[in-house]
Amino acid sequence: MSATDRIYLFDTTLRDGEQSPGVSLNVEEKLDIAHQLARLGVDIIEAGFPIASQGDFAAVQAIARAVKGPVIAGLCRANREDIDRTWEAIKDAETPRIHTFLATSPIHLKYKLKKSREEVLVQAVEAVKYAKRFCHDVEFSAEDASRSDLEFLARVTESVIAAGATVVNLPDTVGYGIPDEFGLFIKTLMSRVKNVDQAIISVHCHDDLGLAVANSMAGIMNGARQVECAVNGIGERAGNAALEEIIMALYTRYDLLKKTTAINHAEIYRTSRLVSSLTGMQVQPNKAIVGKNAFAHESGIHQDGMLKERTTYEIMSPELIGVSQSQLVLGKHSGRHAFKEHMESLGYILNDDELEKAFAGFKTIADKKKQVTNDDLEALVKDKIYAIPERFSLDYLHVVSGSTVLPTATVRLKIEGKVFDAAATGDGPVEAACRAVDRITDLYGKMLDYKLSAVGGGKDALGEVVSRIQIGGKVYAGRGLSTDIIEASVKSYVNAINKHYYELQQRE
Ligand code: KIV
Ligand code: ZN
Repeated sequence: MSATDRIYLFDTTLRDGEQSPGVSLNVEEKLDIAHQLARLGVDIIEAGFPIASQGDFAAVQAIARAVKGPVIAGLCRANREDIDRTWEAIKDAETPRIHTFLATSPIHLKYKLKKSREEVLVQAVEAVKYAKRFCHDVEFSAEDASRSDLEFLARVTESVIAAGATVVNLPDTVGYGIPDEFGLFIKTLMSRVKNVDQAIISVHCHDDLGLAVANSMAGIMNGARQVECAVNGIGERAGNAALEEIIMALYTRYDLLKKTTAINHAEIYRTSRLVSSLTGMQVQPNKAIVGKNAFAHESGIHQDGMLKERTTYEIMSPELIGVSQSQLVLGKHSGRHAFKEHMESLGYILNDDELEKAFAGFKTIADKKKQVTNDDLEALVKDKIYAIPERFSLDYLHVVSGSTVLPTATVRLKIEGKVFDAAATGDGPVEAACRAVDRITDLYGKMLDYKLSAVGGGKDALGEVVSRIQIGGKVYAGRGLSTDIIEASVKSYVNAINKHYYELQQRE
């Protein structure tokens, strides 16, 4: 393998991805995602935009200190104050990177920056030189590159490389490119920059026309060696290029592309599920690679072909990306040791405290279900291990509902060891129960989004509810798990309230 065959995967789920409307992750959630991205084997994690808020700074710093393996990048505008703040946040990382950006397109120069080309060129070079005082690895992004004048962009690229940029990123910021055109743009630009061999050229494509992955692939096929993307394609507006799609396109079409990555493919599905449940951004069923239907064959002809030879209709196997096929795993008589070993085989190395929590959760589920499946265990880990401290916990729930009665709920919450009861009615049992919760917490959340799904199959399947709740002007993703779907709903509501309360505490 030559150096140019290796593609560097730059994950921006925690920065551009977190800019998705209505997504807000707390520090713990960002850390959990960053650790999972490291297990997945991405090369660079863009952990956030430290100057954007105190919370962003804290998350980037926590990730820089705790996550080993990938390069940890922090974003900043091209000015000293931003760069100082980013360096402060990332300086403890094993391998830090300052990522500074400045727009280069005529439209941004005229209306947003109100600067001339010469001024922008000088600012870009100064920013890179200033960042280099702190950090060897400096990435420069020419925002809105795809709508920039090619000659000017080539001058900027050459100048920032001469100033020490190790990576130059050429984003299709507004998702305007068309694959052939974008590929040619990368190729032409590279041919016009004399010192291009001294840096890595990167692409960062948005999905406004649904072409982000296609454009990223065109960029790679024309010389880009770093690709910026986000898990499940989340990000500003229509999102970023989807990480999992790029990985699997590179892997499946190695015959054509001859490019490799350092990805551990078996972690793809788990990463997608984790990001979806912590952000509350659902994955559409027909989404490539990680959608529920991505490996489902419906038509008789296809099923027949699959039975005869899988490759008739399957270009990649679900096992490769970590979709587990084996179902029965543990039952209520399984002991702690078997449980621990099994979790390890699924890739979860639990410390004593995590094992304790997960095992207790497993016993509760095993008491209600005869067979506990891998899907149940994965859901359990998300519920117990990736949990923030709970101020409010659901202690008791009683609902009366039916076609001819007014839905009524009685709820008991535990708050710091004390119990509080309330009852309420509603249009349905979930609304009644949430209203009862409101009476106790005095926090009146608004449910913006609600999704109930069955974990695995069968009538005794666990119900998993992911909701998005607006509290005090902010939106929180809540998650709840139970064999009882009303209980799962209330747990997801209480989970969002706990996140709100936790954030207030952190701010204090
Ligand atoms: O889309 C974009 O141009 C960006 C840059 C900040 C890299 O997100
Ligand atoms: Zn972007």
